[in-house]
Amino acid sequence: MILRPVTAYDAVAIYCWRAHPETQRFTPDLGRVTINEHLEWFVKRLQRSLWYMAECGDACAVGVIRVDQRVAAAREGLWVSLLVDPTKRGCGYGTQILQKYYHEQPLLAQIHRLNAPSLRAFEKAGFHLAPFAASRDGAWLYYDRERNVV
Ligand SMILES: CC(C)(COP(=O)(O)OP(=O)(O)OC[C@H]1O[C@@H](n2cnc3c(N)ncnc32)[C@H](O)[C@@H]1OP(=O)(O)O)[C@@H](O)C(=O)NCCC(=O)NCCS
Repeated sequence: MILRPVTAYDAVAIYCWRAHPETQRFTPDLGRVTINEHLEWFVKRLQRSLWYMAECGDACAVGVIRVDQRVAAAREGLWVSLLVDPTKRGCGYGTQILQKYYHEQPLLAQIHRLNAPSLRAFEKAGFHLAPFAASRDGAWLYYDRERNVV
């Protein structure tokens, strides 16, 4: 697997992955998204985020990892988002992407407590429940990883 920067050519594939019902279920504030809304969002993310496409074999795109400097749960830091092609979930790609992605600063993640594959993938890639472990309503758990110590 390689991680290469996301480009404008990835816009439609990422739209299809984001629009999938299973993705929407566990993504905060996503809801139903139109292609125009997606493209507006996509351009901003291309400009502001660290964003990598994971490819396997013959340049087959399997998922993306995005890192944004932002505030969530009253914490400013580098927050990670992970998205795997819905047709390729459960094959180990999510875990591999997280294990492969290196950042020298600590990383943070917000994960829905019912999102079992995500919780498992992040834990296998060295993330731990953060000291500020849950949202007030208990729906979201917060994880962090100091470095790539897997
Ligand atoms: C969450 C997500 C990234 C996981 O990627 P993935 O490639 O499907 O995950 P993996 O194949 O690496 O599986 C991770 C673990 O979850 C387990 N798992 C997979 N599906 C599961 C399910 N439905 N219930 C319980 N565990 C499950 C796998 O068995 C694996 O554990 P194991 O190695 O101990 O067997 C992917 O499902 C996705 O893109 N979901 C939508 C977006 C999202 O929720 N992103 C996370 C929020 S940041």
